[in-house]
Amino acid sequence: MKTKPAIEQLNPYRVKDVNVSIKLDANESANYLFKDGLVLEHLDINLYPDTNANGLKEALGSYFDMNSTHLMVGSGSSELIELIIKTYVAPGDKVLSFNPSFTMYDVYTTMHGGTFVSVPVEKDLSYDIDKLITVAHTIKPKLIIVCTPNNPTGYQPAKADIAKLINNTDALVLLDEAYMDFTDGSQSFLKEAKDYDNLIVSRTFSKAFGLAGARLGYMSTSPGIMASLLKVKTPYNVNLLSQQLGVKALEKKQAVQSFINGVIERKMILKEALSNLGFIVYPSQANFLFVKSPVIELDEWLIEQGILIRNFASFEPGYFRISVGSESDNRALINALKEVL
Ligand SMILES: Cc1ncc(COP(=O)(O)O)c(C=O)c1O
Repeated sequence: MKTKPAIEQLNPYRVKDVNVSIKLDANESANYLFKDGLVLEHLDINLYPDTNANGLKEALGSYFDMNSTHLMVGSGSSELIELIIKTYVAPGDKVLSFNPSFTMYDVYTTMHGGTFVSVPVEKDLSYDIDKLITVAHTIKPKLIIVCTPNNPTGYQPAKADIAKLINNTDALVLLDEAYMDFTDGSQSFLKEAKDYDNLIVSRTFSKAFGLAGARLGYMSTSPGIMASLLKVKTPYNVNLLSQQLGVKALEKKQAVQSFINGVIERKMILKEALSNLGFIVYPSQANFLFVKSPVIELDEWLIEQGILIRNFASFEPGYFRISVGSESDNRALINALKEVL
């Protein structure tokens, strides 16, 4: 049976299936919030969950001090990114972003018949927002996606640049703030998205909250966009267990902040150790470092030592993304690198 043409050119999402003891390839975190176990209460597992996850939306609203009506919850922010593309991008429409950035923007666009166009990042891996605006004026995309801080580079654009983009385009703008929790939040648009008629901000519990396995994400936007997205959202899209888990996670604000502080501290130590070993390490506002390695096959050598990092030869051979691990993970990585190099 032939698929629809847009699917023919796609490949399944590949996760490197190797047995390693230290996983630094997917920007996950430690299971620090529920390491002592988890008790879920009043689980009416026979019934469908709240289709709009109102309890979790209320908890998010209190956490960020914003009105929960501007929020939507998804089964991972991946579901929400695809939902936005499904709702707004018709076959033939263009989606514009930077390259390199999160690879699924291209995949979801292609899947839904759109054309993905990207502007290369600058030599220092920063964004030239003026260049993005100029390309947008020429190609007239339906949607512009900006990842901030960017995966895989860790670069974070200034809020003033993002405001300039939003105010200088007719396109819908999606800011993917999956890693924003690792910053001081001053460059975020999560709370202001409701005030624009062309802005959506997405976030996730998968990174700073250490809940990648629960598949929980959320987004904020204005009432008009929310009404359109609600027409397309799958009913009961977030399961009962994850909705309750999300509420419990948000009760642990202090633990989340101290975990984030620890990641930032360990990132600085790791950055210095990698630089001392001859790596070029780019500034990163996220929970990972983007590096140029002195050796090209670094990831294959590290797998033999039981450590997995992410190869970005698709950007340029010798480039890798390394998640900031625990103190002992990072020490093991540095010791292995000393051996390998
Ligand atoms: C930039 C970015 N956005 C979105 C996602 C999707 O995250 P999730 O679906 O787990 O919320 C990821 C995952 O790695 C990511 O790096």
